[in-house]
Amino acid sequence: METDCSGPRKEKSRVLQLDEACPDQELLREAGAYVKGGGLAAFPTETVYGLGGNALDPEAAKKIYAAKGRPSDNPLIIHIASAEDIFPLVTEFPESARKLTEKFWPGPLTIILPKSDLVPYETTGGLDTVAVRFPDNRIAQGLIRFSGGYVAAPSANRSGRPSPTCAEHVREDLEDKIGMILDGGPVRIGLESTIVDFSEDIPVILRPGYIGMDMLKEVLGEVRTDPGILKTGKDAPRPKAPGMRYRHYAPRGELTILEGEQEDVRREIRRLVREHAEAGETAGIICCNESREAYPQGEVHCIGSRDDENEIARNLYGILRAFDASGVGRIYSESFFTPGMGQAIMNRLIKAAGGRIIRC
Ligand code: TXA
Ligand code: MG
Repeated sequence: METDCSGPRKEKSRVLQLDEACPDQELLREAGAYVKGGGLAAFPTETVYGLGGNALDPEAAKKIYAAKGRPSDNPLIIHIASAEDIFPLVTEFPESARKLTEKFWPGPLTIILPKSDLVPYETTGGLDTVAVRFPDNRIAQGLIRFSGGYVAAPSANRSGRPSPTCAEHVREDLEDKIGMILDGGPVRIGLESTIVDFSEDIPVILRPGYIGMDMLKEVLGEVRTDPGILKTGKDAPRPKAPGMRYRHYAPRGELTILEGEQEDVRREIRRLVREHAEAGETAGIICCNESREAYPQGEVHCIGSRDDENEIARNLYGILRAFDASGVGRIYSESFFTPGMGQAIMNRLIKAAGGRIIRC
């Protein structure tokens, strides 16, 4: 007989299957009522799955931190389902923020502004600013509306794990910790939203994402990048977004990124993997369609084609999780400096690697 030493068996989350094109309104109403009343529900967005609680309820924020195992000084993004719902949350709304949200909302953009008294400090991790996002996903939007309009949601992973890009990832991390999971299938983008801070004179990118520097510049003119996200290592400046300071997205195996001419990178990865094989260990490899044939040994995961950066972004977190499941001790990845999302992709990969890069 199986013995369970962890005390009473915990209840598993209820999983609701929803079709993004036409989500069942009755199920959304039920999930919304649950969140409004203080419950936690994970839901899909176009970027990654979020772990939602009522943003205006300090107790819900505490439950979110507990479920994720996240430090409570790491603020949450408030999700809205209509652009004008931002006004009660903030004390200013500059022209530049208006222009940017008009262009990119609903979409993978989070903006930061000084918060109003309506927003509890529990939600903002004690900060006087608030992060707001209007996601482009009908399941998310329905849930937000039926929850009362304001849903605080970090990515729906345990703290330190890669963000979830499908409901199965949420189940892996949070199944016995939250009441509901809204399963809307795999996400479209696969990397978290671009965060732009408007609480200073010039807008600052605190986290790169699908909406890149060029797209932002086109609308804003002047925009800076937080120096804390460009560098890694001991002397690097502190990122302004608290969440960007932690070693996030960390696979269990030790990940190293190789940079340089593609032929040199392939040769060096082959050599490293061979060395591990000689020592009786299987190493992992993250490569692209174009280099798949270059690796005869190791556990090889192909992230997609170099010509399709959307595919690369969408597959990244799933691959990091796959390595966790297989338990390889060392992982070597090629670099993916693609034209649009390259900064975002490499930012996540370098963080997952804890800054370990070999230049070939
Ligand atoms: O795409 C996304 O943004 C996803 C989906 C679920 O919407 N959400 C997400 O949330 O990535 P989370 O909590 O995993 O990341 C939010 C980031 C953290 O790095 C946090 O420190 C930062 O936003 N943040 C939130 N509020 C902030 C504020 N007031 N000032 C500076 N950084 C803030
Ligand atoms: Mg996160």
